[in-house]
Amino acid sequence: MNKVRITSRPFLKGLDGSPTFLYRLTNSSGAYVEITSLGASIVSIVVPDRNGKLTDVALSYATSDGFLNSDCYFGASVGRVAGRIAHGKFTLNDKEYSLAINNGVNALHGGIRSFSRRTWNASITPSGLKMSLVSPDGEEGYPGTLKVSITFSFSEDNALLIDYKAITSEDTLVNLTNHTYFSLSGEESNSILDNELQIEASRYIEVDKDMVPTVSKSVIGTPFDFTHFKEIGRDIFENNAQLNIAHGYDHSFILNESKTAYAYSKKTGIMLTCKTTYPILHLYTSNFVNVPLGKHHHAYSLYSGFCLETQLYNDAINHPEWPSVVLRKGELYHHQTLFKFSAK
Ligand code: GAL
Repeated sequence: MNKVRITSRPFLKGLDGSPTFLYRLTNSSGAYVEITSLGASIVSIVVPDRNGKLTDVALSYATSDGFLNSDCYFGASVGRVAGRIAHGKFTLNDKEYSLAINNGVNALHGGIRSFSRRTWNASITPSGLKMSLVSPDGEEGYPGTLKVSITFSFSEDNALLIDYKAITSEDTLVNLTNHTYFSLSGEESNSILDNELQIEASRYIEVDKDMVPTVSKSVIGTPFDFTHFKEIGRDIFENNAQLNIAHGYDHSFILNESKTAYAYSKKTGIMLTCKTTYPILHLYTSNFVNVPLGKHHHAYSLYSGFCLETQLYNDAINHPEWPSVVLRKGELYHHQTLFKFSAK
C-alpha cells in the first residue's frame, strides 16, 4: 500500500488571476515534496540530511510575479519544447513554422505563454499527483492540439518520480522537462559550487555564441568531464571558450547507456541519484540567476542552484543527425525521470 499522503492548500494567483493550489506529498518519515498547479512546478523537496535533519534542497519563488515573469523557470514543467530552437524556425512535413522569439535570437522553453506559466489541472490519482493541460493547435506557433499529463509521485525511500505523457491531434514537436534548481547544501545556502556531480556521459554538445547547439565533443580533458565525482566549482571559472559563452555550465550531456547522474553535498551528506529514460541531461548552473524574492523571501544569485534537465536533444528539429523530437499523430509520448535522495 502507498503510505504517501497528498494534501493541498490554496496557493498564489496564477495567470489571469486564476486560483492555484500547492500539493504536498509526504511519506511516513516526514520527508515531502511540494508541487503547485502554477506551472506544474516543484516548490520544495524536503529530505533528511546525514543527521536526519529535514533539509529543503529546491529553489522557488515567494511571489506570483516570480512564477509568471521570471526567466529562471524555478521548478517548472517546461514545454512544449524545452531548450532552444534556433531562430524559432523549423520545417515539419514540408511546412515552415515560425515560433515566438523569447531568448536573444531563439525560441526558448516553449515560448512566451509556455507551459511553465500556465495553471494546470491537478488531480490526485492512485499513482500520484497528476497535472494536465491542453495546448491548443497553433499555440506559440506549434501545430496540433497537444494533451499533456505529468504525474509526480514520491516514495517511502525519498524518490521523486516524474512521468511525462502527451498525445497530439497532428504531428508536432514535444520535449518536456522539469527545471528544478537543486542545492544539496540546502536552498538557503545560495551556492552549489561545492556540490559534487557525476554525470555518466562521455560526450557533451557545444553551443555557438547564441547558445544554439552545434556538435558533440568528448568530455575527456575538458571542464565538461564529470565522469567521476567533481565539485561543480572546480573548473567552472576556467578560461574555456564554451564556459565563457555560457558564463558557466549550460550544456547538454549525451548520457551513456546507464542514463544516470549523481550529485552530493559533503556539508549535508545529501546524495541525489538521477535516472531517466531521456537521452540528454542538460546541466545549468544558475549562470543568470538574480532573484531578490526567493522562497522565504531570501535572495538567490549566481550559482545558487544546479538544474539537471533531462530531455531530448535541444534543437533536434534542425539537426537531422540527432534523434527526433517529432511526436506523430497517434503516437504516445512517454518519458520518466527519477530523482532519488539519500544521505551518507
Ligand atoms: C536553461 C537554459 C539557460 C537558461 C535557463 C533558464 O535550460 O539552457 O540558458 O535560459 O534555462 O534561466
